[in-house]
Amino acid sequence: MPRKVNYGIDYDDDYEDDYNDDYDYDYDEEVEENGITAKTMPAKEVRTAKVWRCPICTYDNEDSMSACDICGILRNPLVKSNIQINDVAVGGKCKDSGVSVMAKSLFASLPQHRVQPFIFEVQDDVSSTDNHLNFHKFRNMRSTFSEFSSAFSNQNHKRVNIAPFKFNVPSPDDLVSSGLQSLKMKSKDNQRDTNIPVELELSAKDQESTSASVTRQRGNGVNEKDYAPTSGSIQGVPHSNVNTEAMSSKTGKVEQSIERKTASISDFTPETWMIPETVDGELSQLNLAIVGHVDSGKSTLSGRLLHLSGRISQKLMHKYEKEAKQQGKGSFAYAWALDESAEERERGITMTVGVAFFTSKKYHIVLLDSPGHRDFVPNMISGATQADAAILVVDASMGSFEAGIDATGGQTREHAQLIRSFGVDQIIVLVNKMDVVGYSKERFDFVKQKLGTFLRTCGFKESSISWVPASVMENQNLVANSSDARLSWYRGPFLMDAIDSLQLPARDYSKPLQIPICDVKSQSQSQVSACGKLETGAIRPGLKVLVMPSKEIATVRSLERDSQPCSIARAGDNVTVNLQGIEGNRVTAGSVICHPDYPVQVASQLEMKILVLEISTPIVIGSQLEFHIHHAKEAAKIVKILSLLDPKTGKVTKKSPRCLLSKQNAMVEVALQGPVCVEEYSSCRALGRVFLRASGRTIGLGVVTQIIKREN
Ligand code: GTP
Ligand code: MG
Repeated sequence: MPRKVNYGIDYDDDYEDDYNDDYDYDYDEEVEENGITAKTMPAKEVRTAKVWRCPICTYDNEDSMSACDICGILRNPLVKSNIQINDVAVGGKCKDSGVSVMAKSLFASLPQHRVQPFIFEVQDDVSSTDNHLNFHKFRNMRSTFSEFSSAFSNQNHKRVNIAPFKFNVPSPDDLVSSGLQSLKMKSKDNQRDTNIPVELELSAKDQESTSASVTRQRGNGVNEKDYAPTSGSIQGVPHSNVNTEAMSSKTGKVEQSIERKTASISDFTPETWMIPETVDGELSQLNLAIVGHVDSGKSTLSGRLLHLSGRISQKLMHKYEKEAKQQGKGSFAYAWALDESAEERERGITMTVGVAFFTSKKYHIVLLDSPGHRDFVPNMISGATQADAAILVVDASMGSFEAGIDATGGQTREHAQLIRSFGVDQIIVLVNKMDVVGYSKERFDFVKQKLGTFLRTCGFKESSISWVPASVMENQNLVANSSDARLSWYRGPFLMDAIDSLQLPARDYSKPLQIPICDVKSQSQSQVSACGKLETGAIRPGLKVLVMPSKEIATVRSLERDSQPCSIARAGDNVTVNLQGIEGNRVTAGSVICHPDYPVQVASQLEMKILVLEISTPIVIGSQLEFHIHHAKEAAKIVKILSLLDPKTGKVTKKSPRCLLSKQNAMVEVALQGPVCVEEYSSCRALGRVFLRASGRTIGLGVVTQIIKREN
């Protein structure tokens, strides 16, 4: 059962307004809350001469400091002079700190709030997070103020230097990994180049309407086809080391704890059937995510491409047009093909990722139509995390492009950052709705210049970005050169040519099988259909597989690709796996199908290297987040901030910083509310790449550097 995620801290929207409010901080109350009695805090011990309290993180800095030693903020010139006169600032009530109620709540769990003797968290105290419901516990460790102070000010009192941030050099993904390499020397063999493709969000409805081959997944579909195993495909099942003695009498499934043979992963020898033979004329699968700001025309583009490639019949298109008109949404006729639920159609927005298939000259394309609305970014992540390449659709019309590129609310930015951090390095920017701006070259150049600058800061190389002006509505520059004379200034490829120019990423066929499940399509007694992209290895009917974290063995009954039975699927392929001998509730989105001898790890506490995006509220110990990893989502809490890192070299610049600000790179430890399937990034990128969200925004990207707490 999916657990409802608690998004944690209720951030105060009026943060800015509150900023200068007086605050009346009740130390006694806080002290009581933290289990420290007032008696432990004799007033004498709290007196320290000449300090000023940072209005942001409330750290008490020495008077000589012109900026906060912890968060780097400049000393507030508005702080009244009586603060300086007041020698009892530390431990006393500071009426003029200017800290907001929200900032108080954020820093409430931090040591400096407590009157001496200080109780501070021991950074290596893993046991502090034992209780999932009470993530953040401080160990009762006493220290004098001077010890405490020196513990946090051993950086020579230099102001935290927030260098102008290059989003990534060369990319968030690579940046995070390069630092990781400098921290942990891992064999290059273990580094995978895998980029990531598809996922599906299922509509509640069965997709019979999919003469257009549109798939959606949402968990409860029941229309299960009973495909027989493809002839000649069932052969000997690989030997499993799983102890089969402890079988549940009812289901006959293995309930045994699975021992991971980590050491032998490099010894894995692929069977011959796993390695593809090159067959002339066989198209490779390209997983293509369509991303971009809300209403930029992503679904209309997807519908149009399906129609132009013959996947949507003329008859079906007429039906969509008629229905859309009847609902007063005539302009959404093409989007109708992808936006299938009543709510999506009524609201005119995509909410779940639509998956459709069509072929170009060069590829068998899996199209992933992402939702652009910010409320559905988690769905976008789940789908687009499997992409090999992406089309970023931008609306060229006046004001709309600007809204999408806006730093605070624009999904053009967020999607571009996310897609790059998934490892996608090839992108086609479709500058859409050129009809609205009269196919103006000036407007196209303006969009290209503005967005190009941003994309480069995201780590996209100039040579890996294609710019295509188009009008999806007027079918200009999509599958043929534009027929509109107003676009005659454009000399580049039309969209379909640009798609065929994309390169396939390397695939890991010869590694043990791993398929993160993005959705469970249909379930019946002892048979489950699970969808996902093979990150590594290969699969075929008859194979015994292990489903984690439920630790159950199941048999692959059949495979489907593009709603057609298939005999083998390999790394990079997006398939539906029909499993036999397992109950539906043992397979969920976020589970991983793997080789029985090489189970994926399951963990609830992780060390990560993260890159903080634009945030308005600092990340501190105790901050609660949404933790996204492949198709799993869990509530999480920061339990340690280990160090700040130099964005270029990955070297530690400061140990145990009190908080994290925008654009900083850091090592942190997070505790999850529930366990997830995960791998260290150095051994599998797709299963070690993390997205952190809070208050409806992506606030950080990261990679798992170490698994701290394994679940057996
Ligand atoms: P979300 O999925 O909600 O993020 O939106 P979307 O990006 O999928 O946009 P959608 O395809 O639903 O289109 C939004 C509106 O833009 C519809 O009314 C389309 O008709 C319109 N539209 C799409 N492409 C064009 C175009 O080339 N020109 C004009 N004028 N309108 C377009
Ligand atoms: Mg859409």
